[in-house]
Amino acid sequence: MLQDSKYLDWNNSFEKIEKAFEAGLFVIIIGPKGTGKTTLVREFAKRKSVNLDSINFSLRTRESHLVGTKTLENGTVGFIEGLLVKSMKEGNMLYLDEINSAEADVLLRLDEALDDRRQIVLKESTGETIQAKEGWFVIATINPLSHVGTKELPPQILSRFPVRIRLEYPPEDIEHIVNDTV
Ligand SMILES: Nc1ncnc2c1ncn2[C@@H]1O[C@H](COP(=O)(O)OP(=O)(O)OP(=O)(O)O)[C@@H](O)[C@H]1O
Ligand SMILES: [Mg+2]
Repeated sequence: MLQDSKYLDWNNSFEKIEKAFEAGLFVIIIGPKGTGKTTLVREFAKRKSVNLDSINFSLRTRESHLVGTKTLENGTVGFIEGLLVKSMKEGNMLYLDEINSAEADVLLRLDEALDDRRQIVLKESTGETIQAKEGWFVIATINPLSHVGTKELPPQILSRFPVRIRLEYPPEDIEHIVNDTV
């Protein structure tokens, strides 16, 4: 990883995310490996000084990672909050990396949180409804040519992300600039 490298916004993605952020609309970034999806998300969080919670999805990601896990200690029932719930409560920025690697049951819980009400019911604990704090913002990425386990994202989930940004490999002349600046 190169240090102190500058983010080069060669196709104006930053401004698109900023508009979505201000309008409270969630964003999905679509692009093959190494096109700068993660870099863009991190750069945005940094410039906006918002806390970033990140989940990298795989087939092994369970609902409990997102929502939480019930615990039992000395006869007392507790609950360890998952990152989705934490992020909603704190009104952070949530980064759902490679969301199209998630299993159907996981996507179902995400769908619950991402709809217009921005709520999730903690059926695994008290049944309480968590309402996202004002300003909660979600950015997902998908990698269309990815590895084994990548699925088509169901249209239902895709519809939760009305702002879509496509990243491709930059034109050659711009790649020179990137290489020269790092
Ligand atoms: N616009 C950019 N400006 C500066 N550096 C960039 C840009 N795009 C990509 N890079 C650099 O290219 C490398 C790959 O970028 P990054 O990891 O963000 O890609 P990605 O799309 O998230 O890839 P993956 O699908 O594998 O997760 C990083 O080292 C990053 O610093
Ligand atoms: Mg990435």
